[in-house]
Amino acid sequence: MNKATVNNWLKEAITEVPSSFKGEHSWQSPSNIALVKYWGKHGNQLPNNPSISLTLSESKSETSIKYQQHTGNQPVLKFYFEGKENTAFGEKIFRFLQSITDYFPFLNQLALTISSKNTFPHSSGIASSASAMSALVMCILDLENKLKNDNTIDLQKASYFSRLGSGSASRSLFSTAALWGKTNFLAESADEYAIPIKQSIHPVFNSYYDSILIVDGGTKSVSSRAGHALMDNNPYANIRYAEANKHTQELFRCMQSGDLDSFIQITEAEALQLHALMMTSNPAYILMQPNSLKAINAIRNFRLETKVPLCFTLDAGPNIHLLYPASEREKVLSFLQSELLDLCANKLWIDDKTGNGSSKIN
Ligand code: PMV
Repeated sequence: MNKATVNNWLKEAITEVPSSFKGEHSWQSPSNIALVKYWGKHGNQLPNNPSISLTLSESKSETSIKYQQHTGNQPVLKFYFEGKENTAFGEKIFRFLQSITDYFPFLNQLALTISSKNTFPHSSGIASSASAMSALVMCILDLENKLKNDNTIDLQKASYFSRLGSGSASRSLFSTAALWGKTNFLAESADEYAIPIKQSIHPVFNSYYDSILIVDGGTKSVSSRAGHALMDNNPYANIRYAEANKHTQELFRCMQSGDLDSFIQITEAEALQLHALMMTSNPAYILMQPNSLKAINAIRNFRLETKVPLCFTLDAGPNIHLLYPASEREKVLSFLQSELLDLCANKLWIDDKTGNGSSKIN
């Protein structure tokens, strides 16, 4: 990324907060599902390979930030999650705020009450860091705008700071789909922030479904932070990064043309490679469960028999994301009800699809 842009953010940072400054802003931001996976990082949250994701609409975080000027020299924070004060999350958010005060020095002069909740069910195993961190960053940029008397949110800046909170959060801001990480085929791509790709891809993706089978709603046994770190000594790391680069270019091309056969082939290969990397880490670990494999086999048989362009992907967990175009909705739902529902914990699944990215609530 252009160093001048970052220097400019530093130069234009707001240092003074009027004593009367107080108010509240709320933003919602969705989760996203990676098609080409980001797995392995370096430096300050920089990805070892580019990734592409679909932006979801139903699985999202809603975050509100109440603020008031105070005379101290660091932010004062109370953090509520799902209506209850949560000091563990609060400490994490506080550290994040402190880490960005060079760019947002006004935070040091604010007492903040941040309340966040997710629309997806508790114990669904759906990671919320992408939606939560991007919603929080949008609230902070909105606050900065209020101090500047400006209304325009700079999405590149929003993605840059969301990335510092959680890598995948950089992709949650944009409608329909996003690409994060430097590629040699898109000059505007960057490791420091994600870019929107909706305008370049086929309209079939404007309403693409992601029906998420909750195979297990428990928290993961290995965090994604630890998983990224294990890539540093993974013997297949370099092969993986070459594969991910190739997949990014191929997937982008078939998303442009709407070639769903290639889309399916690359998307499933990516999901399985992510889990193969976990199985080849040291220590090795397995996040898929017997029902994840049963679902994968059932999906592949269904596709073979019916020619319906349904495919699966997985995040860093056992849950299966069913991806399909809106035109196949009825057939996929009846397949889900008859063959997949029994593989879900408490028959739980989440009905999601591509959506519009982050937006202001009030
Ligand atoms: O953003 P993180 O650090 O939670 O990592 C996300 C990693 C995956 O979800 C497995 C893949 C991805 O690209 O979202």
